[in-house]
Amino acid sequence: MYVSAVLSTLAGVLALQASASAVPNNVKRSPNLLMVFDCANGGLGDVCNNMCYGAFCAKWGSSFTWDKPSKSVARKRSTKAGCGSGNRCSKAPYGSKYQCDEYPFKSVQESDKGGQVNRCVESKYNNAQSQVVKNFYNSYANFKGLGCDKKYPCTFRISFSNSGNIPWCNAGPNPKCKNDGNEYNKDGKIPDPKKRDTGLVGKRYALASGEIIYSPEPLEIGDIAIRTAPINGTLFEEYNSAHVKRDLIDGEETEYDQYEYMMHNLKTIRDEVVGVVPDDDDADEVY
Ligand SMILES: *[C@@H]1O[C@H](CO)[C@@H](O)[C@H](O)[C@H]1NC(C)=O
Repeated sequence: MYVSAVLSTLAGVLALQASASAVPNNVKRSPNLLMVFDCANGGLGDVCNNMCYGAFCAKWGSSFTWDKPSKSVARKRSTKAGCGSGNRCSKAPYGSKYQCDEYPFKSVQESDKGGQVNRCVESKYNNAQSQVVKNFYNSYANFKGLGCDKKYPCTFRISFSNSGNIPWCNAGPNPKCKNDGNEYNKDGKIPDPKKRDTGLVGKRYALASGEIIYSPEPLEIGDIAIRTAPINGTLFEEYNSAHVKRDLIDGEETEYDQYEYMMHNLKTIRDEVVGVVPDDDDADEVY
């Protein structure tokens, strides 16, 4: 009786150990997939500012899921963002050179909720941003296997490089969220908050290549960063300035198809998060 109780306890312990070792505790987590926007030298202009404002000051954060929406769903999302037809960006003080840029994008399911932020930006910057996004979602040609690789739903995180001079993406201790006058939502100009209270504390991370990225949400070592860079910067600028964005009305064209002819001038780099960069004093608040 006693012996068998001991034996059965022992058997229980052994069974526990067996089941514990059957589930290895070093199971690989799936790394975050990062869509990196390079905000250097005005290539993306104030499209970067809008993403920073939306991520940090309007509580949108940076984690989204691409669901390849139909045109009608995308259009509904734009309307909820205040970027529907006849939006403010087509009028003074903006006008024909401008587009209404929305964050989060109309291509992600989070935008169904409404309350996105919008900013009137020069069309060329929207074109530049669209190339990065198209690249990431569709992984064409030499981008194969990177980003979403045409598979959806696809969850990703947005992060930034060279965003240090954008106040809303500032890594300082108490960055504020003062509206510069061009941050709106569907209801109008967004009022300044009493204090920045999104709860998001951005951090800088080092990539294997040596690049530094800034992420609104915590990242982990091993997260995969997809960076897009122009091969010829002059040509990139030419394409972005000359492209006239077409509406999503005809045929099977999706929003991003119209950028296909620019893709030969992009290279995509698969990078990886290797560490956190400690905060320092020169990342102080700007305003
Ligand atoms: C880059 O593009 C510009 C504009 O199209 C062109 O004039 C220049 O020759 C290109 N540079 C190289 C190295 O191909």
